[in-house]
Amino acid sequence: MTPPVLRVRDLRKTFTLHLRDGLRLPVLQGVSFEVHGGECVALVGPSGQGKSTLMKCLHGSYGADGGEVLLSRDDGSTLDLASATPQQVIAVRRRELAYVSQFLRVVPRVPALDVVAERRVDADPAAASLDEAGHERALAAAREEAAALLERLQVPRGLWELPPATFSGGEQQRVNIARGFIQPARLLLLDEPTASLDAANRRVVIGLIEEAKHRGSAVVGIFHDEEVRDAVATRCISVRHEA
Ligand SMILES: Nc1ncnc2c1ncn2[C@@H]1O[C@H](COP(=O)(O)OP(=O)(O)OP(=O)(O)O)[C@@H](O)[C@H]1O
Ligand SMILES: [Mg+2]
Repeated sequence: MTPPVLRVRDLRKTFTLHLRDGLRLPVLQGVSFEVHGGECVALVGPSGQGKSTLMKCLHGSYGADGGEVLLSRDDGSTLDLASATPQQVIAVRRRELAYVSQFLRVVPRVPALDVVAERRVDADPAAASLDEAGHERALAAAREEAAALLERLQVPRGLWELPPATFSGGEQQRVNIARGFIQPARLLLLDEPTASLDAANRRVVIGLIEEAKHRGSAVVGIFHDEEVRDAVATRCISVRHEA
């Protein structure tokens, strides 16, 4: 068996609430699990127990108070996301770590098609050394892939050239999903990817997750929708802390 893509070991995270006299809230108290390529692990547990906090630790957005989040990289090395520098986190996010959050953070004035396509170009290791003409060619190819994904996710064609800032919640989420899936990442993190989607688009997302698993990505997700969770999760991990 190939080594796991992700190894979480004894992860600990406590929030200190300064507005409440420094009250300490131990949210993650020694979380350990592994995820292999081709697996989809669902984080389950009651509201407020630390699922999103764990996800943010896996994405390198939160440091930890103890333990490790070990990501095996394309070059065979391992990075501990719990203690990585911001530069290291940015480098792995470019190609190896994709995150679909519930909300799209849009760059002003960039059209939806390019929000998706630029992610593909940035993920290409050769992109940094391309001249202007080469970059335009890479972007044109990426735009075709982006168009195919937006079509599949039923984002109306009339919106592709518009910046997503004014799109509906569900339209923004579908642009976000296309952006997350256009690049074959080793580790794919999904926080409620189907929360504002209709049944037809939920099925499209289920299909995209299945394809990512077949490509060998390791997937970790929070899916409140049980139908989606049952369709994609190979196992569940319970996230709970003592009150
Ligand atoms: N940045 C923060 N500072 C202080 N407390 C926080 C912070 N983020 C989360 N918490 C607290 O940590 C606990 C876990 O929150 P988290 O968002 O991880 O829960 P969750 O399991 O994702 O819940 P839900 O299912 O409602 O999304 C909650 O009690 C929350 O108030
Ligand atoms: Mg949450």
